Amino acid sequence: MVKSIGNKKIKTAVFISGKGTNLRNLIKFSKLKKSPIKICLVFSSNRLAKGLNYAKKYLIKMKIYNFTNKKKAEFLILKDLKKNRIDLICLAGFMKILSPDFIKKFKGKILNIHPSLLPKYKGLNTHARAIKNKDKYSGCTVHLVNARLDSGKIILQKKIKIFKKDTVYKLKKRVQKQEYKLYPKAISKLFFNL
Ligand code: GAR
Repeated sequence: MVKSIGNKKIKTAVFISGKGTNLRNLIKFSKLKKSPIKICLVFSSNRLAKGLNYAKKYLIKMKIYNFTNKKKAEFLILKDLKKNRIDLICLAGFMKILSPDFIKKFKGKILNIHPSLLPKYKGLNTHARAIKNKDKYSGCTVHLVNARLDSGKIILQKKIKIFKKDTVYKLKKRVQKQEYKLYPKAISKLFFNL
């Protein structure tokens, strides 16, 4: 488990693949005095990821690795993580699956946000599946990452009502709004037991 030392912030890397609205939100959170994290690195699996603009805007070091050769990408990422003394990884819309070997090296130090009430709807298209199944609730989950997909220890969850007339777009928008609250809350819970 990661421990914050005195009032030093935990050096954190955020992994993204797309829009990066959670990244933007985590950057804003990290700037608060009460935040236990400092974002030092942003990794993207996609060179066209819009989220890279937030790293640029906030002058955070960024690296792009395409995962066609996953072994090589992970080897280089581990090198970067070590060099920058990163102690926490936050996956934020990172759409690649990290290898068990990689996860082992950062055991208990990788968090993910997932757009469903896990253990329901692991994987992709969570909102469409919840609507199709006429679920009453959807939600989002922050969990520790282990070697099995979307299966690590749950830190926090937020339940969100699904309305009869909901579309994937509308539900996603409402869930994401809650994600922006949940991720910082989960990080604080992890480090300060709040
Ligand atoms: C978020 O809604 C996050 O929960 C989801 O991708 C979106 C990324 O949005 N993550 C997953 O589906 C992971 N399996 P963002 O790029 O705007 O933060």
